[in-house]
Amino acid sequence: MSAPVRLQDVAPDRARFRDDVWHGLSLPRKTLPCKYFYDARGSALFEAICELPEYYPTRTELSIMERHAGDMAARLGARCLLVEYGSGSSRKTRLLLDRLEAPAGYVPIDISRTALAASARALTDAYPALEVLPVCADYTEPFDLPHPQRTPLRRAVYFPGSTIGNFTPPEVASFLARMARVAGRRGALLVGVDLKKERAVLEAAYDDAAGVTAAFNRNLLVRINRELGGEFDLARFAHRARWDEQAGRVEMHLVADRAHSVRVAGRAFSFARGETIHTENSYKFDLAQFAALAAGAGLAVREVWTDDARRFSVQLLSVEA
Ligand code: AVI
Repeated sequence: MSAPVRLQDVAPDRARFRDDVWHGLSLPRKTLPCKYFYDARGSALFEAICELPEYYPTRTELSIMERHAGDMAARLGARCLLVEYGSGSSRKTRLLLDRLEAPAGYVPIDISRTALAASARALTDAYPALEVLPVCADYTEPFDLPHPQRTPLRRAVYFPGSTIGNFTPPEVASFLARMARVAGRRGALLVGVDLKKERAVLEAAYDDAAGVTAAFNRNLLVRINRELGGEFDLARFAHRARWDEQAGRVEMHLVADRAHSVRVAGRAFSFARGETIHTENSYKFDLAQFAALAAGAGLAVREVWTDDARRFSVQLLSVEA
């Protein structure tokens, strides 16, 4: 039988979700925050995306971790407190946990309560000596870090999956600075960073043949309908994913197939034919560009591990004193 895991819960509530949706749909260019993708179904769909043949980031990052996790763990050192942002299923983390020397604890932080609770339980079972301190939170907002029983020698923030690419460059700079504060003096960041590549590879990764990414994108409307009494007709919105070379990002949109209006929690929003809701940006970086963003946040890039084709990178950043 699994030991009970105490979960600190500061996830955004329904009123905040409604206000964010009302705000986003009132903008001249309609947009919705991508953090709301991750309800239970959205998290499950994202896990399915990670298995798709077209979605190269997960398997490429995993291959980098499989090859270099020992080196990464050695660089992080003994008795480190590992704090993971957007932990999801914590699959890549296990590769690190297997190699870290006597970690002081593990703090997985995720907005999806269901996914977090399940992975915290599974990790507690798999690593009985490890103190697991899960926090259900929107990690873009401030939250208190729980204290492990063993005093850590160092804090390391692990942010895999290239989720950093879901922020705009100015947000990346301030988010890196926030993670640097969480890591504190002598702290480190280990960040998964997706790299620029050919359009065809990028667009296929975000518009797969089986339609899983389309279902993931539309699930945002399913969630609005269920949680906010929204009246979106899913058949009226098509999934679109395009690489914008100049902006350096893949954009995901939901495109209205005709003029109509939709009520959400008592407010009506009108759509023109072809009008879109911009649901996600996924920025891709080159190494120099990312190093410059890190430097702006007071971080130095200490090591970059990549795959042979240089599709993806895992980067060790240290907090400059
Ligand atoms: C979570 N994030 C890094 C994914 C990405 O690649 O931007 C989310 C995703 N969106 C569509 N497919 C995957």
